[in-house]
Amino acid sequence: MARTKIALIGSGMIGGTLAHIAAQKELGDIVLFDIAEGIPQGKALDIAESAPIDGYGSRLKGTQDYKDIEGADVCIVTAGVPRKPGMSRDDLLGVNLKVMKAVGEGIGRYASNAFVICITNPLDAMVWALQKFSGLPHARVVGMAGILDSARFRYFLAEEFDVSVESVTAFVLGGHGDTMVPLVRYSTVAGVPLPDLVEMGWTTQERLDAIVERTRKGGGEIVALLKTGSAYYAPAASAIQMAESYLKDQKMVLPCAAHLTGQYGVEDMYVGVPIVIGENGVERVVEVKFTAEEKAMFDHSVAAVRELTDACVKLEPALK
Ligand code: APR
Repeated sequence: MARTKIALIGSGMIGGTLAHIAAQKELGDIVLFDIAEGIPQGKALDIAESAPIDGYGSRLKGTQDYKDIEGADVCIVTAGVPRKPGMSRDDLLGVNLKVMKAVGEGIGRYASNAFVICITNPLDAMVWALQKFSGLPHARVVGMAGILDSARFRYFLAEEFDVSVESVTAFVLGGHGDTMVPLVRYSTVAGVPLPDLVEMGWTTQERLDAIVERTRKGGGEIVALLKTGSAYYAPAASAIQMAESYLKDQKMVLPCAAHLTGQYGVEDMYVGVPIVIGENGVERVVEVKFTAEEKAMFDHSVAAVRELTDACVKLEPALK
């Protein structure tokens, strides 16, 4: 049986972390691709040299040649420029759109059977463009955002309640970042929804609102602290969970940027929604009913994503 192959397009901070986690979990052989010479080769070698100590059998290779991703089962895309302090995700649009074109064409040519996970920001617009440039089916091109946003939310809630992060579940929808929509009534501690916990006196509505706000700005908080670059440990862990659900047909229900064809009233856009990821890629979009307030937040978020995809079409009319 052929060995599973994971191609990491972009070998920067997230790409290197992805390679390390994928190797430690023995998800497959790993190809690190980057335009920066030496970086993917150096990271591949460094991680391979940790294998005798940690005891894993994944083979690693660094490359500048798209041919080396040939036949990949999973491609995780982080290629692009990350946010610098003071820079919004939207500022990144023009630069990273060009990168998506090159990457999409490379994947379309050499790895058209892969499950593709995009991480590059501004996420919802970049994954939309990447799918078009690659020509792969929508069910096999998804964006990583919701797992990260909900992991941040879960962590902050666990701290607030002084309970294990594993006992906290969170439900977030919408675009990545400032307009994300946390559904507090579907977010729980051991099944008890957050509004009930407010009533039970575990926290106050004000504190909960502050946690939601901190979650929305979670990426910026890390950027401000690091000063040179953006978050990479939690984003990498989030994308690995998606890859694993696909490769092992786990059918996990995960919040991801997925292509919508009428669900939630949205046509031909990638927006964060809960999906089932299994051997066929996106196997189901979970559609929940909104309250009027949630619908307004969701529509606001969708409008923000729409602005970005419209801006992409202006820059690259072929995307229409
Ligand atoms: N093809 C391949 N790799 C590219 C290309 C390209 N056309 N353009 C840039 N790269 C590479 C860079 O050389 C760099 O090594 O992408 C890598 C990006 O790595 P980092 O700058 O370290 O960024 P990282 O922190 O990994 O974040 C990657 O994820 O969260 C998002 O906003 C973030 O878009 C950014 C992406």
